Amino acid sequence: MAGIIPKEQIEEVRVRADIVDVISAYVPLKRAGGSLKGLCPFHKEKTPSFNVDPRRQIFRCFGCDKGGDVFRFLMEYENVDFPTAVRLLADRVGVRIQADRSERRPEGPDKRTLLNVLEEAAQWYHQTLLNEAAAGAARAYLNERALQDTSVENFRIGYAPSQRGALLRWAKEKGFGQDLLLAVGLLAESDRGPEPYERFRDRLMFPICDEVGRVVGFSGRMMNPEVRAAKYVNSPETALFRKSNILFALDRAKNAMLEARTALLCEGQIDAIRCHEAGVLNAVATQGTALTASHARLLRRHADEVVIVLDADAAGEAAAVRSAEAFLEVGLAVQIAALPPGEDPDSLIVKQGAQAFQEVVAGAVSVIRFQVQRFERKGDLASDAGRQRAAKALIEVISHAENEVQKEMLIEEAARELGLLPAALRAGLARTRTPYSLERSTEVVARPEPTTVYPPEEIGLLDLLLHHPEVTPLVRDHLPIGHFTHPDCRQIADCLLAPESDGPDGLLRELDSRDADEACTQLAIRLQTDPSKVRGIEFSTEEAAKDTLLRLWRKYFEAERRRVQQEIRQAEGEARKQLLMESKQLTEDISRMRQGWALAEPILELSMPMPGSEG
Ligand code: UTP
Ligand code: MN
Repeated sequence: MAGIIPKEQIEEVRVRADIVDVISAYVPLKRAGGSLKGLCPFHKEKTPSFNVDPRRQIFRCFGCDKGGDVFRFLMEYENVDFPTAVRLLADRVGVRIQADRSERRPEGPDKRTLLNVLEEAAQWYHQTLLNEAAAGAARAYLNERALQDTSVENFRIGYAPSQRGALLRWAKEKGFGQDLLLAVGLLAESDRGPEPYERFRDRLMFPICDEVGRVVGFSGRMMNPEVRAAKYVNSPETALFRKSNILFALDRAKNAMLEARTALLCEGQIDAIRCHEAGVLNAVATQGTALTASHARLLRRHADEVVIVLDADAAGEAAAVRSAEAFLEVGLAVQIAALPPGEDPDSLIVKQGAQAFQEVVAGAVSVIRFQVQRFERKGDLASDAGRQRAAKALIEVISHAENEVQKEMLIEEAARELGLLPAALRAGLARTRTPYSLERSTEVVARPEPTTVYPPEEIGLLDLLLHHPEVTPLVRDHLPIGHFTHPDCRQIADCLLAPESDGPDGLLRELDSRDADEACTQLAIRLQTDPSKVRGIEFSTEEAAKDTLLRLWRKYFEAERRRVQQEIRQAEGEARKQLLMESKQLTEDISRMRQGWALAEPILELSMPMPGSEG
């Protein structure tokens, strides 16, 4: 969108418009230390929590969490889109925006048309699976996985033929043009040539429906494990299809959910389908993505309580706690059911039957009990220090509760579990800062601009550098800037890590002087205004930084190993021997990165470039 108005003109406006001047035209502001304060124009309040930071040229409300740069303010206040905000401000500061002919964007196809294409495609894939000779292997695969015919019918499972051009032939018959197929993501632009390619070929197709059963996208599973490709390929994020606010099978589960007032949440499509086969009709799936506030709100419309079915490993447990917090934030009660190690709902039901799965669900425990059990297993509850850690972790969970009644109930339960007085926990709770909330993070996702997915380790480290600048020397000494793989992240890191850097305060100025592009600046603003996502509960800041550094190094070594292995294929003789040794060394380094800081650090020291040898 920013491309409509030439970038230089946008920057010219930004430079000329001082955020304090602009905002104080709308909101009375008072100086308070280095920044200015006022009553937030975006929500009702009696004491000022709206801040404007003249150094960083950003605003933020700590009450309702709106924040951003001067353009964002106008977009929010005047309720306009980005180009309009730029124009409004350009007028005020006397910049002439050159009329751009590309401004009038061609009208895209409307929603009804797109839904129709997706519906027709779902039918075609489904019919292909049922009737075509070419789908024999797909039918055999379904058979092997023992998915029932009624499931294939109910969930309209299909098959995308492997033959190139099959989709286009079908589309031609239907009169659907390439533009439509591209718009719904059945075709994808290729970076190798001008011709778009068919996104789904030789895959089992699961239509993804919205709440009322309209197909909004697909997830395609490969059948041949020999093929080196993603296990599942999904429709791209479009206006219709956003994984962050779609729950697979919700359309089929919502009646059962309303009846029981309880929802069952699992991770994969096949898991949800298998639950339905097992008679657990209130099951839905997040399709492998982290649970978002939109997901939580979606479920709240149909249920009062959610049972999270989780994988029994450390990652699964941590994810379950985060999901639980998101549910608490919208006022849902949460239970957690742990699967036997190594199983998912699908595999458990296939191996041990519906009964075994229903027992797992019946054995679900409250989120408080679940956390306590985690500490119990570590043997932590035997010591005072351990019990304090557990109390802290429970307070953290409880702090996400949406309302006082829920909070009180959780406090009572936690106190009982830990043998403490509720008052002690209440006092602890009063001292916690407002927790980082998923609610806020999805606001970012929900913005109309296309969102870039940045490497999470890189974002995590930038978050630390911005919100806990005391880790800067550690990072500077242990990570070459080249280990940031995303150019925007690298640019921001470089500003923060340069020896002469002014740190977080000077970041936007520095980006400006380096002529950073809009996406990079927006990322910097977002990172600066979002509350830090690094929690000081389980990790100290330093530990968090070390952990992230090791993950970045691991990624780097892994990339190196891929490169070396490529070369091995072409090398012979001595050179090949050399490369094989190198690859072996890299494998060792990678495993060292998993063994914690003390063991890994010597390798980092050896691998750091000599000062001055970079760039
Ligand atoms: P899993 O890898 O756990 O697969 O991913 P699964 O659900 O058990 O599937 P089967 O049993 O192997 O067929 C969980 C979910 O994450 C998403 C899918 O929605 C999947 O159901 N996923 C997984 C992807 O989107 N892409 C992938 O490459 C893998
Ligand atoms: Mn599975």
